[in-house]
Amino acid sequence: MEKEWFESWFDTKYYHILYKNRDYTEAEKFISKLIDFLNPEPDSKFVDIACGRGRHSVYINRLGYSVVGYDLSEESILEAKKHSKKDLKFYTHDMRQIFRTNYFDFALNLFTSFGYFKSKRDELNAIKASARNLKKNGILVIDFLNRYKVINELVTQETKRIDGIDFKISKEIQNNQIIKSINFSDNKKDYFFQESVKLLDLEDFNSYLENGGLKITHTFGNYNLDDFNKNSERLILIAQKIG
Ligand SMILES: C[S@@+](CC[C@H](N)C(=O)[O-])C[C@H]1O[C@@H](n2cnc3c(N)ncnc32)[C@H](O)[C@@H]1O
Repeated sequence: MEKEWFESWFDTKYYHILYKNRDYTEAEKFISKLIDFLNPEPDSKFVDIACGRGRHSVYINRLGYSVVGYDLSEESILEAKKHSKKDLKFYTHDMRQIFRTNYFDFALNLFTSFGYFKSKRDELNAIKASARNLKKNGILVIDFLNRYKVINELVTQETKRIDGIDFKISKEIQNNQIIKSINFSDNKKDYFFQESVKLLDLEDFNSYLENGGLKITHTFGNYNLDDFNKNSERLILIAQKIG
């Protein structure tokens, strides 16, 4: 069966080149704010779902917490594992499948690591499996794009030169998805990738989260944790496991 876009693109080195500005500095700023807000007990356990190369996991661990990160991308997990130690572990795992049950105090899904699946059933499975990780009253944090800002400020064509590669990027909205097409050449070879993310809004998440036994307690609109509104940079949800 042909691979889905998210199974191949995130596994390439080019994804990491294109998004290299989304680095440890950004992650550390956001995590510092988030930890201040969450105020975890010192022995709290975190799971970083779709952790990529582990930039958030590494920092949370440095702050003294036990962290497990998992991601579908084997290449990213190989990189993340370079940081492994006693209280910081990484695994290749699909977020739609159950990982652990009633184990973690906090589960994180950061930097638009959702909205990739074709079916609502897969999306709900991902939420349910994410929630399954949590102890009762545990907290799930989802950091997603703000659909209103994406629609209002859509840049349809742009070229970004990074590490000597010209990434030609075009974006369009189709069937309530943002489709980002990425064309470039490297070492005389042409490449084409496409990202496709569903433009989910607060209501969509509310319904998935309720179905997964969670209740939204706070909505923030940026990495500074200011309140969410339709012009916000991000949609950041804090939800508590009630079931
Ligand atoms: C936009 S990246 C964000 C990575 C990381 N959270 C960060 O901020 O650097 C999205 C991540 O989701 C992962 N991903 C996509 N589908 C997944 C799935 N079904 N299960 C687990 N991870 C998945 C990708 O491999 C990729 O690392």
